[in-house]
Amino acid sequence: MSFVLLPLALALLSTVHAQLVGGQYFTRGLAISNAPAPNSEFTVGGTIGVSVDVSGNGRLPQGSWGPNSTLPSGFISLSLYLVSNDHNVTIIDGTDGAFLAGEPGSTVKHLNYVIPNCLPAGNYDYTYYEVSRMNDTMYFGITPIPIRILNPSGPSGECNSTISNPVQTRPQNDSVPAQNPFTGGLALNTTSGSSPSTTFMYVLASLVVSGALSLLA
Ligand SMILES: *[C@@H]1O[C@H](CO)[C@@H](O)[C@H](O)[C@H]1NC(C)=O
Ligand SMILES: *[C@@H]1O[C@H](CO)[C@@H](O)[C@H](O)[C@H]1NC(C)=O
Ligand SMILES: *[C@@H]1O[C@H](CO)[C@@H](O)[C@H](O)[C@H]1NC(C)=O
Ligand SMILES: *[C@@H]1O[C@H](CO)[C@@H](O)[C@H](O)[C@H]1NC(C)=O
Ligand SMILES: *[C@@H]1O[C@H](CO)[C@@H](O)[C@H](O)[C@H]1NC(C)=O
Ligand SMILES: *[C@@H]1O[C@H](CO)[C@@H](O)[C@H](O)[C@H]1NC(C)=O
Repeated sequence: MSFVLLPLALALLSTVHAQLVGGQYFTRGLAISNAPAPNSEFTVGGTIGVSVDVSGNGRLPQGSWGPNSTLPSGFISLSLYLVSNDHNVTIIDGTDGAFLAGEPGSTVKHLNYVIPNCLPAGNYDYTYYEVSRMNDTMYFGITPIPIRILNPSGPSGECNSTISNPVQTRPQNDSVPAQNPFTGGLALNTTSGSSPSTTFMYVLASLVVSGALSLLA
């Protein structure tokens, strides 16, 4: 590959894959990870401040934020795990939808996750599992973000089955759009086909107003 083509190829690659832009990590789905930043260090017993923008930085309406959004583009479910060869720890179990439904009206969802003392120090993947719909197509995307966990006094307590467990079964094979809709500058259709068009509402409103005026006359 020539040196002229290399930057272009890298630019194309970066639009396909998850990426860090202005301090936010754009996942392979609709979720935008505000925190933790990639390569952050945490100590057991401390907290990971989970912060997820579910609105595409304001581009998705509230009906898209899920869980189980019925709009042509929106979240179905979102789970978060700490993944390593030794332990898989659930931070958010997306099956009850509590995280996405929490903080109603807020475009950013938060959670303070206390890191169990039983975890050995090392590199972990802070991993998003997202099921969502974009332009009426269902996607399932896994996004690992590397973080480091420190445990100065060594693991203590048992990582029993409540703490360490298998990650959820994949609802389908990993499938993500070719381009991230937000960093790729693509619009997403969030208008459901069954809702009345704004033109219809306008006509209805003017009929009501003219009806009221003719009653007054
Ligand atoms: C944790 O999950 C990863 C990815 O699914 C898998 O490779 C690994 O074997 C799992 N580890 C344990 C201890 O289950
Ligand atoms: C979302 O829909 C699935 C499948 O119908 C259901 O199992 C799940 O309980 C629903 N989740 C919420 C939070 O309503
Ligand atoms: C697992 O350990 C935690 C913390 O020590 C404890 O609260 C929980 O009851 C334990 N669960 C089981 C199934 O042993
Ligand atoms: C998932 O991918 C594997 C390997 O490409 C394939 O064998 C399998 O049929 C796929 N499963 C679904 C549900 O598409
Ligand atoms: C989604 O659909 C809209 C409207 O049809 C279109 O403008 C947009 O490019 C599509 N977005 C993607 C990511 O395909
Ligand atoms: C958006 O999606 C709805 C529901 O599938 C569809 O009826 C409508 O035509 C789509 N709009 C555009 C601009 O593609």
